[in-house]
Amino acid sequence: MRLVLLGAPGAGKGTQCKNIVNRYRLLHLSSGDILRRERAAGTELGKKAQQYMDSGALVPDEVIIEMMADAIKKAPPAGFILDGFPRTVNQAAALDRALDADGRRIDAVLNLKIDDKVVAGRMTGRRSCPKCGAVYHVENLKPKRDGLCDRDGTTLVQRSDDSPEVVANRLETYHRQTEPLVEYYKNNGTVYDFDADRDPEDVRASIFETLGVLVGT
Ligand code: AP5
Repeated sequence: MRLVLLGAPGAGKGTQCKNIVNRYRLLHLSSGDILRRERAAGTELGKKAQQYMDSGALVPDEVIIEMMADAIKKAPPAGFILDGFPRTVNQAAALDRALDADGRRIDAVLNLKIDDKVVAGRMTGRRSCPKCGAVYHVENLKPKRDGLCDRDGTTLVQRSDDSPEVVANRLETYHRQTEPLVEYYKNNGTVYDFDADRDPEDVRASIFETLGVLVGT
């Protein structure tokens, strides 16, 4: 199964991807996580991406397309879920061409719908584990021990692009450059909309119901 997960910053893409990959054994390919790893490792790619990420702008298409094409090649036969990619119509068209060349295609696009006002609060309260990538929230999804990852005990950190000013830019970038993708995929494939302003468990249940129908379980 090859899936794309769309949604504004803070819609819960990373949170729901963890559920989906655990259940369906897909490879989770988050362009944001890959970029953050490159930054932490101090690679040329990471250095190139830094200024864009820090301001809430998109990293140039050519950089991202090459990076994600490499990552997709390593996906297992069970498939993958793309989180944060594609983010422009140009990226989506490049993805379609790359899959087409191998006789593959995107099976479904899951679109998490949420209001800007809700995500602003979510992102300023987000904390994540720099070691395993687990995501928490200071109110909605607390770790068992304050400030420490449940899985490996690492001290949780706040993302540098989760400040209110950068979040506002990221939302503006999303509406201008990424939201048109919903229309793109409605013309090219199957889009499933989900109300993401609900308890994470309820969002998960709706997604599983849809995926269950798709895979026939
Ligand atoms: P990226 O890392 O992809 O960030 P994003 O899309 O802005 O998404 P987030 O990771 O912020 O949010 P999410 O939807 O995953 O929410 P989460 O589950 O964490 O991109 C970062 C940057 O990299 C971009 O700005 C850009 O510069 C660059 N980039 C990346 N991909 C690119 C591309 N393709 N092209 C160009 N540039 C690219 O949840 C958020 C919080 O809410 C958490 O604390 C969570 O616990 C909580 N939460 C989740 N669900 C719920 C719920 N249902 N109810 C209450 N709280 C919830």
